[in-house]
Amino acid sequence: MDKIIVEGGYRLSGDVRISGAKNAALPILISSLLTDGINTYANVPQLRDIDSTKLLLSNLGVRIETDGDTVCIDAGGLNNYEAPYDVVRKMRASILVLGPLVARLKKAKVSLPGGCAIGARPINLHLKGLARLGATIEIAHGYVEAAADELKGAEIYFNIATVTGTENIMMAAVLANGTTVLRNAAREPEIVALAGVLNQMGADIQGAGTSVITINGVASLKPVSNTIIPDRIEAGTFMVAAALTGGNITLVDADPDHLGALIDKLRLTGAKVTIDGKSLNVQGPDRITSVDVTTQPYPGFPTDMQAQFMVLMSIANGTSVISETIFENRFIHVSELKRMGADIIISGNTAMVKGVPTLSGAPVMATDLRASASLILAGLVAEGQTEVNRVYHLDRGYQSIEKKFTGLGAVIKRIGN
Ligand code: EPU
Repeated sequence: MDKIIVEGGYRLSGDVRISGAKNAALPILISSLLTDGINTYANVPQLRDIDSTKLLLSNLGVRIETDGDTVCIDAGGLNNYEAPYDVVRKMRASILVLGPLVARLKKAKVSLPGGCAIGARPINLHLKGLARLGATIEIAHGYVEAAADELKGAEIYFNIATVTGTENIMMAAVLANGTTVLRNAAREPEIVALAGVLNQMGADIQGAGTSVITINGVASLKPVSNTIIPDRIEAGTFMVAAALTGGNITLVDADPDHLGALIDKLRLTGAKVTIDGKSLNVQGPDRITSVDVTTQPYPGFPTDMQAQFMVLMSIANGTSVISETIFENRFIHVSELKRMGADIIISGNTAMVKGVPTLSGAPVMATDLRASASLILAGLVAEGQTEVNRVYHLDRGYQSIEKKFTGLGAVIKRIGN
C-alpha cells in the first residue's frame, strides 16, 4: 500500500484549485438512475469513492464514460436492482441507490453498509423514510430489500438531520405520487446541489437548504448536464494548512459561502481570511490562538473538519475544547497526534487540546479519510519526517493531495509499495 512522506517545517504559499465535492458528486451521479438518456457531469473529482460509485452503477446496467473530470452516465439500460456486498463494503454511500431503485424499478436489494471506523452509522432513518412512502422493507442475510408498486407522497420527520438519508428519500419522493414533506431535513450544500440537479431533471423540489423540503412528485425525469460544486472539506483542509504553517494560500474555484463556520473559527485563531468571489485567501497568524469548537450539522462547524482543526489547536497558544456531536468515534486521530507529541485528553465526546510548541514527525496511520488528512497536516508542521500509512483512505476523498501540497511548497511525496 502507498505511503506519504512529509518533511515538516515549510511555510506554504501559492494558489491551489479546489476539486469538485465528493459528497455532492456521489448522490448526483447516482441520481442518474432516475432518468433515461445521457447525463453529463463536469468537475467530477477523480477519487476512489467516485470509482466505487461507477462500479456500483455499472453493476446495475448503467453505461458510464469518463473523460478527465467529465462523466457521462446513461441509465437507459438499468436492468438490475441489486447492490452487492462486495461493492457496498467499499463505500457506505452506496446505500444512496436504494431510493432511486425503488422509484425506478419498484424494488431494490442493497447490502447493509454496516458501521465504519467513525461510528455505527445506522440507516434506520433511510428505511423509515422509504417505509413512510409506502415501501415494504425486509432485512435478511445482510441485505435490505425494499419494494413498492407505487410510492406515495408522505410527511416524514427525521429525528436526526441525516445528509444521505435526506438525499435518499428526496430521490425516492421525486417520482412518488403526490406531495412529500421532509421535516428536520439536513441543510448541507450537497443537499441543495442534489435538489438543483433533480429540479433540472424536471422534479419539483422546494426548500432544499432549509429544514423543510417539499417535493411534489412528477411522472418522469429527463437527463441533464451539470457541474459539481467545489469541495468545502478539501477547501477547509487547505485553509487549515495555511493557518498551521504561517502560510499564505489562495483557494481558486472554491465556494466561500459554504465555509462560514470554518472562516469564523480561523479568524478567531488569528488567521486573516479574505474573500474575493470564488477565491479565498488565508494568511496564517504569527501566533495561533486557541479556539473552542463543537461540530454541528450545517451551517455549524463540520465534523469532516474536526480532525484537521484539532491539529491546528495542537500547536496553538492556549487550551482548546473540541466537542464532536455527530459521530461517536471520531477521535481516531488523537492517539496518532499524541504519538507526534500533541497534548490531548479525551473525555467522552470532548477533547481538551493543550497547545505544544511543536510536533515531532513519526510513522502514523488512520482508518478514516479525514483523520488521515489531519495526519498529513500534522506532518507539515512537525519536526523531521512523518510517514502516513494507509493512504488508501486519503485517496477516497482528496484528489492528488500530495501534488497539490507540493505546488504550495510542501516537501511531500508518495511512495508505492
Ligand atoms: N443517523 C442515524 N440514522 C440514520 C442516519 C444517520 O442515526 O439512518 C445518525 C448518524 O449515526 C450520525 C448522524 O445521524 O450520528 C448524522 O449522520 P448522516 O446520516 O448525516 O451522515 P452520512 O449521511 O452517513 C454524510 C457524509 C459524511 C459526513 C456526514 C455528516 C456523504 C457521502 N457522507 O454522511 O462524510 O461526515 O454526512 O456531515 O455525504 C466524509 O466525507 O469523510 C464523510 C464521512
